[in-house]
Amino acid sequence: MARASRTFVCQSCGAVTPRWSGRCESCGEWNTIVEEQAESSGVGGGPLKLVGKKGRQIELVSMAGETADPPRLVTGVAEFDRVCGGGLVPGSALLVGGDPGIGKSTLLLQAMAALGRKGADVVYISGEEAIAQVRMRARRLGLADAAVQLGAETNLKDIIATLESGKAPAAVVIDSIQTMWSEALESAPGTVSQVRATAQDLVRFAKRHSTAIILVGHVTKDGQIAGPRVVEHMVDCVLYFEGERGHQFRILRAVKNRFGPANEIGVFEMGELGLQEVPNPSALFLGERDGETSGSAVFAGIEGTRPVLVEIQALVAQSSLGTPRRAVVGWDSGRLSMVLAVLDARCGLTLGGQDVYLNVAGGLRINEPAADLAVAGALVSSITGNALPSDCVIFGEISLSGAIRPVSQMEARLKEAEKLGFKRAILPTSTARQRPSTGLALTEISDLAGLVAHLAAGKGKRPREQRTNEL
Ligand code: TYD
Ligand code: MG
Repeated sequence: MARASRTFVCQSCGAVTPRWSGRCESCGEWNTIVEEQAESSGVGGGPLKLVGKKGRQIELVSMAGETADPPRLVTGVAEFDRVCGGGLVPGSALLVGGDPGIGKSTLLLQAMAALGRKGADVVYISGEEAIAQVRMRARRLGLADAAVQLGAETNLKDIIATLESGKAPAAVVIDSIQTMWSEALESAPGTVSQVRATAQDLVRFAKRHSTAIILVGHVTKDGQIAGPRVVEHMVDCVLYFEGERGHQFRILRAVKNRFGPANEIGVFEMGELGLQEVPNPSALFLGERDGETSGSAVFAGIEGTRPVLVEIQALVAQSSLGTPRRAVVGWDSGRLSMVLAVLDARCGLTLGGQDVYLNVAGGLRINEPAADLAVAGALVSSITGNALPSDCVIFGEISLSGAIRPVSQMEARLKEAEKLGFKRAILPTSTARQRPSTGLALTEISDLAGLVAHLAAGKGKRPREQRTNEL
């Protein structure tokens, strides 16, 4: 009989300590250490005893050998398939994370129904909702006729026994991993050791039976998959479903993918009939624009393999506070501070006494440094009151010296802009060889001061008479 030992586990990072403390020494989070009981052998994390057993020799092979591309289970929800790298891979494990209520269950129910309609064996296990609730949703979404087997259960042993009883299904959804529990452990469902142990068992099941397993994981308020990040390491693919509560747009983003490009995004719109795919997200993100206004710039970005145009809005206003506000939605606030510092040090634009608000329209979150120049453009436009032309896109990376660096895939960015009817682009200076071929009128900028001069010279138009601030 294995000896049960008590350990203390941080619910945020999964670090194990022998005693309780208020703050986790490994990740610095407060009040995350919880007492858990771990078996001294087995899944709890203790060492396995291998008494007198000699290791088996494994076969080593050359790297040059041929291996076929993994077969794919194409669900038919095109945006979902693309983010997965072309469909689900049999035998793989996928984690879909996101805030509660963002639409994870809806998305997976739709994807499974589409797969079921194509004749695949699919199972949807809900640990959160009763069968009646899932059925009601399926009926409302018009999916009730799809061949999806439903189960409402949280006991992992029973779930695995059920899945192993007949022919293994092609795909299984576990909604959510935080509700699952294994009898082998005493700790409560949702704790690190339970989530880790149950995820491990499910991943093992997937590999053994060539079933694609999809785990749903809730995200805590600071953006981590609740409990352990360890699950992210165990699975082959991690997708985040994100979006702003007030907006109907939802973005599915691959943050890790062993079978396809990471950072790929899929865009959906939440409506009466569930999630609708948005095949052309640029048109959607720009659709809300209200003409030519100061403080707005259209950034030509690349998300994964796809160019996406998105509006960046800035507002610079006199502050009434001792420490002015810096509020950012959809971009990194550290990066904003850097752009403000470069504007101050290299261009003499001091915003120390002003509040700065920055917003990426549509609920998209941008991580690319190429957005620097678009942000600077929106800021300078807000300061001067000069609007950038509404048919102009802008991109480029700003270095601390104020120089504008070229960015990747310039041609793809310009092509997307051209496709959507844009006529001009502001971009980094490039050599003749690098210069992208395009039908757009290009304004090349080599340093940030050049952008400020370009906007101040009224190359952008003045929509209003009064300027908020003279340069
Ligand atoms: P859900 O898929 O239950 O979210 P999660 O599993 O991520 O917690 O989505 C719930 C939200 O989606 C809920 O607030 C209502 C909304 N919704 C719609 O707007 N339209 C629909 O057709 C459905 C099914 C849900
Ligand atoms: Mg749900």
